[in-house]
Order: sequence, then structure tokens, then C-alpha cells
Amino acid sequence: MSMVIAEHLHKTFGRFVAVRDASFSIDKGEIVGFLGPNGAGKTTTMKMITGYLPPTAGTASIAGFDVLKNPLEARRHMGYMPENVPLYDDMRVYEYLEYRARLKGICGSSVRQQIAFVIDRCGLEPKRKNMISTLSKGYRQRVGLADALLGNPDLLILDEPTNGLDPNQIRQIRELVRSLAEDHTVILSTHILSEVEQICNKVIIIDQGDIKAADTPANLTHGLRAAGRVSIEFKGDLECVVKELEAFAPVKKVIHEETLPGGWHRLIVRAEPGTDTREKAAAIIASHSFPMRHIYRHIPNLEDVFVEMTRRD
Ligand SMILES: Nc1ncnc2c1ncn2[C@@H]1O[C@H](COP(=O)(O)OP(=O)(O)OP(=O)(O)O)[C@@H](O)[C@H]1O
Ligand SMILES: [Mg+2]
Repeated sequence: MSMVIAEHLHKTFGRFVAVRDASFSIDKGEIVGFLGPNGAGKTTTMKMITGYLPPTAGTASIAGFDVLKNPLEARRHMGYMPENVPLYDDMRVYEYLEYRARLKGICGSSVRQQIAFVIDRCGLEPKRKNMISTLSKGYRQRVGLADALLGNPDLLILDEPTNGLDPNQIRQIRELVRSLAEDHTVILSTHILSEVEQICNKVIIIDQGDIKAADTPANLTHGLRAAGRVSIEFKGDLECVVKELEAFAPVKKVIHEETLPGGWHRLIVRAEPGTDTREKAAAIIASHSFPMRHIYRHIPNLEDVFVEMTRRD
């Protein structure tokens, strides 16, 4: 079942197109990483999905409810953590969550229950009585997450939840998101690609307002240009080795990256995706009795996908 359906979402600011004709769907239970360079249109797309920013054209629905025609129903199924969590510095953590719960229409005894639940879930117990102004950035992010979780929505939309955090905090928030992902559908934007590789089972790449890809990480890395790349370090006649490598069929290009101290040449061999040129390369170098100290076949990751889809050259 589709949790989110975006159809031909389009957003212009004046004459500038921020998001161009974006269509995608997200199934219940999916953990989706939303990737793209700065200014690509991630936040704009997320805001349109939440219904907080009306699109210039196109529609979005959450759990079957159009976010503009049925905003209340749609929002009941969704928790949103914006890019810069707007918190009230002069409130205590539990006061702020109480205030947010009431704004969301949670009432009576369930306010207390809900707050206890999200405080526990987000590890905020030690800080529940602290003034928000005294919280570290990581704890502020937790408050933002706790806010998004109020009402226990099926879908969480998190705009850069680990932005500005140190490596330890990033790990803690990542673990928190991972645990939330067990019983929620999650869309999160981030610039940390390893994070997406670790948590997400679907990736949407957006660049200059265009959706470039929407697929599983495995499908995206499969068949990449980077997939056939081999790097080599050897000592000896550079020109001769390059020539012999280039004569080998699957090889498309040989690049001399640099010469390292001690006269070691580092070569990058680009070949057809899915081929492995290591054996042949080693044989060529060995046939001249040149010493070789390194040979490595690149295993493509999401960073390669990202670079290939968003590079400007
Ligand atoms: N209210 C606005 N008025 C004019 N331009 C805007 C407005 N909001 C966003 N933009 C522009 O739309 C483009 C997309 O912005 P958006 O915030 O969606 O990017 P992003 O992918 O979230 O980037 P980042 O990684 O920096 O958060 C940018 O060029 C931005 O300057
Ligand atoms: Mg953004």
C-alpha cells in the first residue's frame, strides 16, 4: 500500500523552478533517503508532501488523503521534523511537548501518555525538565523528533535530522531513527551517504529540481560506471603499461593519477561495468617484472551514484 503518492509536484519561486514535475510513491514501511546537493529541492519537496507548502502544480497524498484537500486527515498520519526545528527557548522540554500535543489536537489523559511515550522513545528522560535554551544541539534534535512522534503517526518526514551534530550524536540519532523505522514509514533527507546506506531501503536522488532516480541502493550501484574501476600502484615504464592496458578489450580508459614518492605510479583503470580487469593488469605488469604493491577493484557505493548523477562536468 502506498503511504505517500506525489504526482507531478512542481514548485516555482518567481521564474525559478525549485522542483520540476516530481512523481514518486513510497510504500508503507519503507525507509527512504532523500539525497541531493544543496539547493536541489529536498526541503521544498518535503514541505509540499507535508502540505505546508502548496505546490505550483501537482498533488501529494498521505495514506490516501490529499494533503491540500484533506489536510487534517493527512496530517494525522504524519509527523514532520523541519530543517531548522523551531523550538521555544523559554519552555521546558515537557512544557513544549505538551504545547505541541495540544496544537495537534491530542487531548485529555492521552496528552500525558503521549508525552511520556515520546520522551521515553527519544531518550529525553534526563532532560525533560530542562529549559530548551540550555539543550545541546543533539538534544534539540531529539525534541524535534519527539515532537514529530506525538500522536504516533504512521509516517515520519525528517529533514536532515543529523545536521550539525558531532559524530557521537549522529550515531545516537541514527540509532534512534533506525529504531523508529521499525514501526514507521520514514522519509529522511541527509548529506551523509553512509547513513543512507545503513538505514534506507530506498533512495530518491534529486538534482536542480529534477528527480534523477528512485530505487533501492543495490539497484542504483549496480552497473555504475565506477563498477569496473581498478586502481593499481606499480613501478616501471608507465607508457608501456598504459598502452598494453588500453589494448585490453573491457578497458575504456587508463588514467595516470599521480606518481608517489619512491617512483610508484598510481593508475586508475576504467572498464565496462561488471568486468574485473585485475588479473590481466597484474599479468601485464608481471610480464615486465615491474614491482606492484597495490591492486584494488572499486566496490561502488551510494557516493559514486550520487556523484555520477549530480556531477556538473
Ligand atoms: N521561499 C523561497 N523563495 C525563493 N526561493 C526559494 C524559496 N525556498 C527555496 N528556494 C530555492 O529553491 C531551491 C531549492 O531549495 P531547497 O531548500 O528545497 O533545497 P534543499 O535541497 O533542501 O537544499 P539543502 O541541502 O541546502 O537543505 C534553492 O535554490 C532555494 O534557494
Ligand atoms: Mg534542505
